[in-house]
Formats: sequence, C-alpha cells, structure tokens
Amino acid sequence: MEVIIRPSAESAAELTARLIQKAIMEKPELVLGLATGHTMEKVYDKLVEIHKSEGLDFSLCTTFNLDEYIGITHRNKSSYWFYMNKHLFTRINIDLRNTHLPNGMAEDYTAESEKYEQMIKEVEGIDFQLLGIGKSGHIGFNEPLSALQSRTREKALSPVTIKQNSKYFDPPESMPKRAFTMGIGTILDAKRIVLLATGKKKAEIIAKAVEGPVTSMISATALQLHPKTTVIVDEDAASNLKEQEYYRWIFENEPEWEQFK
Ligand code: PGA
Repeated sequence: MEVIIRPSAESAAELTARLIQKAIMEKPELVLGLATGHTMEKVYDKLVEIHKSEGLDFSLCTTFNLDEYIGITHRNKSSYWFYMNKHLFTRINIDLRNTHLPNGMAEDYTAESEKYEQMIKEVEGIDFQLLGIGKSGHIGFNEPLSALQSRTREKALSPVTIKQNSKYFDPPESMPKRAFTMGIGTILDAKRIVLLATGKKKAEIIAKAVEGPVTSMISATALQLHPKTTVIVDEDAASNLKEQEYYRWIFENEPEWEQFK
C-alpha cells in the first residue's frame, strides 16, 4: 500500500481522475470498478471534463459498481444506478450496455450475487478498482465483520452507515437497510486499487485503515494485503496518520508520481 497526500480535496480527486485516465489510455478496454458517494462526485466531474477537453475515450470500457441498495428501483433518485447515470455514464461516451450494477430489485439474492461474480469473471476481472471509505471503515458495503475473503452478497447495513447515508433519502427513514455488495475478496482480486478519502470526517478511519492492524471489524484494512493499492487523501483526511513524512517523500521522489505533479 502507498499513501499519497494532496493539498486539497480537489487535487486529491484530480489525481484520482488522472490515474483512471492513464489506465484507460494504456488499456482502452479497461474494466473499471466504480464507487459512489459524495467524495466521488469530484472525480466523475473531472473525468467528464477530461473527456470533453482531451477526448478521453470510454467507448471500449466496461464498468462494475461496488454495490446497490436492495428494494429500490433504478428510478429511485437515491439508487446507485441513478447516481452513476447522473454523475458519469450519461456525460461520457461509454456504451451503457457495458455498465453494470447489482440489481437491487432481484428477489433471489444468491442468484443475483453469483451472476454478478460471474459477469466479472467473464471479462477476466477488474483492472482498476476505485474505492471510497465509509465512517464504519467499509469499502463497498462490507460492514464490520465482513469476511476478508467474502464475495458479492447481500449485507445488512450498520447503524453508522445508515446514519451517514440516510440524508440522501426522502424521508431519511426510507433508506434500505440492506444492500448487495462486492465482497472483500472480490475487491482484492482487482489488479489495481485506488481509495480516495477527503475531509476531516475521514481522518480517524483512514488512520485505522492504513496504519492499524488488519481486522474484519474495519474492512478497508484488508487493502493492506493487496499488492497494488494507492490511498489518496487530502491534508484533512491525512491529519491522523503517523507516517506522513514518509508518504510525502514517496510522492516527491518515486518516479511513478513525476508525471502527476
Ligand atoms: P462518501 O461515502 O464519499 O459519501 O463519504 C463513502 C463511502 O461510504 O464509501
């Protein structure tokens, strides 16, 4: 794992978007794992801007989102399907048939989960997985005690997550209490992972996720087991990290980062 600290939420999101751009330019038929949430909106805005100003071509890309609420339809403005179409898919030249999210209205949870895993397998896995992190430490909706080898399944949402996300539902009590999510094992199979976290509210959980012991109580700690994970944070989200000096040295000195300065 490596940690990159950027001065602001904007520059952290821009770096994330630039890494996605580079991955698509190197492999136009990239299989991209996507995340939702407030943090990602800046990344998607930046990707749209790069698509418009620099012609970044998504036409051969395939996407798989991490998760979707159970029991709400695509038309529900709080569904992740709606979020993705609003913030990204309808603003770039991706073929919508190549965009995938779990079907939150599926009645057979096991069949839907297995189908999602199978679809990922058919395209030979995810090349680049984008992640946010919740205050519960979740990646996707892998709430505390998610098995570190878990695969796509339905998961009950934790009280912390319900508190964090119910503001996106009207009324807040209508927020579903369950979701489909890729498992931690599914996420760890991605060839490259980038986790983005910004803001003071994420400082405590980022310190635990990056520098704390690996535990199923904080699913993001499992990323420490992955050979190519980059955690991108702004100064606020980095503020509780102990080894900041080392992380800053990496960005300044490692050749990989030269082109992003
Ligand atoms: P946020 O959500 O970007 O809205 O903070 C992140 C997450 O819960 O994974």
